[in-house]
Amino acid sequence: MNIPILDVKRQIRPIRRQLDAAIKRVIDNANFVFGSEIKQLEEEVAGYSGAKYAVAVSNGTDAIRLALLAQGVKQGDKVICPDFTYYATAGAIASVGAIPVFADIYPDTYNISIESTETILKKQGKKIKAIVPVHLFGQCADMKGIMGLAKKYDLKVVEDNAQAFGAEFRGKKAGTIGDCGAVSFFPGKNLGAFGDAGMVLTNNKSVANRLYLLRNQGNIRKYHHLIVGYNNRMDTLQAAVLRVKLAHLDSWNTKRLQNAAYFNRAFEGLGIKTPVVSGFSTHIYHQYVLRLDNRRDTLVEYLRAKGIDARVYYPLPLHLQECFKYLGYKAADFPESIKASKETLAIPVYPDMTKQERNYIAACIERFLK
Ligand SMILES: Cc1ncc(COP(=O)(O)O)c(C=O)c1O
Repeated sequence: MNIPILDVKRQIRPIRRQLDAAIKRVIDNANFVFGSEIKQLEEEVAGYSGAKYAVAVSNGTDAIRLALLAQGVKQGDKVICPDFTYYATAGAIASVGAIPVFADIYPDTYNISIESTETILKKQGKKIKAIVPVHLFGQCADMKGIMGLAKKYDLKVVEDNAQAFGAEFRGKKAGTIGDCGAVSFFPGKNLGAFGDAGMVLTNNKSVANRLYLLRNQGNIRKYHHLIVGYNNRMDTLQAAVLRVKLAHLDSWNTKRLQNAAYFNRAFEGLGIKTPVVSGFSTHIYHQYVLRLDNRRDTLVEYLRAKGIDARVYYPLPLHLQECFKYLGYKAADFPESIKASKETLAIPVYPDMTKQERNYIAACIERFLK
């Protein structure tokens, strides 16, 4: 068997005709920048998520960056984010000239710890302007805790919703609880484009208006630039693809959930920790992450040898990354983040996986553990 972490080809096959037709329409209209599909996708994503505004942008990293800029985060401001996340969360913060301030995570959900965040805020509250919680692996961070801190310390909240588009926090869609939600449509995400694409969700009209300017060279009308903006537009082709795929997102997420439930049952009592779902969020299993003691690396190697594309997200916490050395953290800072980086692994959970593949993965892991 050969089971990739995600099989995009298999996802495309049943909707290929619709995708081809959508792409053909864009080519026929030759409206590659700001074609009608952009506005249509924005309306559909707003409708899907319940956000008042959905602003299509170039990718998820830029979605975070523009959301920070639109809310006045600037050079020298401090912005909190978890230490255990993909680089882009902190990269986006640093790209606006702000200083990333890392917080530790909870050992069960791997999401940002409210206690760790509050400790930082107590010490340096006045300098912190914003917080970027990450809904890691497909379930929401504790947004009640985050919003409580945001109110207390007067912080802007940008949800990094790159991995949980479609998940719900107490009945509200992820990305619509903070001031802004940043979505990534990177091809490997649960809703993936055919290249880079992203979206910013917000309920705030003036923030949305700033985002429209920022993503398009600060253009108020052609050749008149109100503010210094950038070229961070989404391609019409990506919007056309995403519109076809959006209609399938919930059913794909349900299949991921079913695969996860199967694995949870299969691994019961084997001494490996299955994903913990918090009481306040649904989980869309962007990744199905297992946790094992010091045998993690051996298990990953074993699974790879069996043709299963197990992955480690993420092997090196942000505070240990070379690029963030200048922040001056010590190696032992953020113990939960460090432990998670050493003990967790992701196994394939994608929706189109066959029952045989699922059984095979479970059987291989069981054999390894026994
Ligand atoms: C947690 C997280 N934040 C941000 C990003 C950045 O998104 P993109 O690759 O679309 O720039 C990603 C995905 O790559 C991600 O997983």
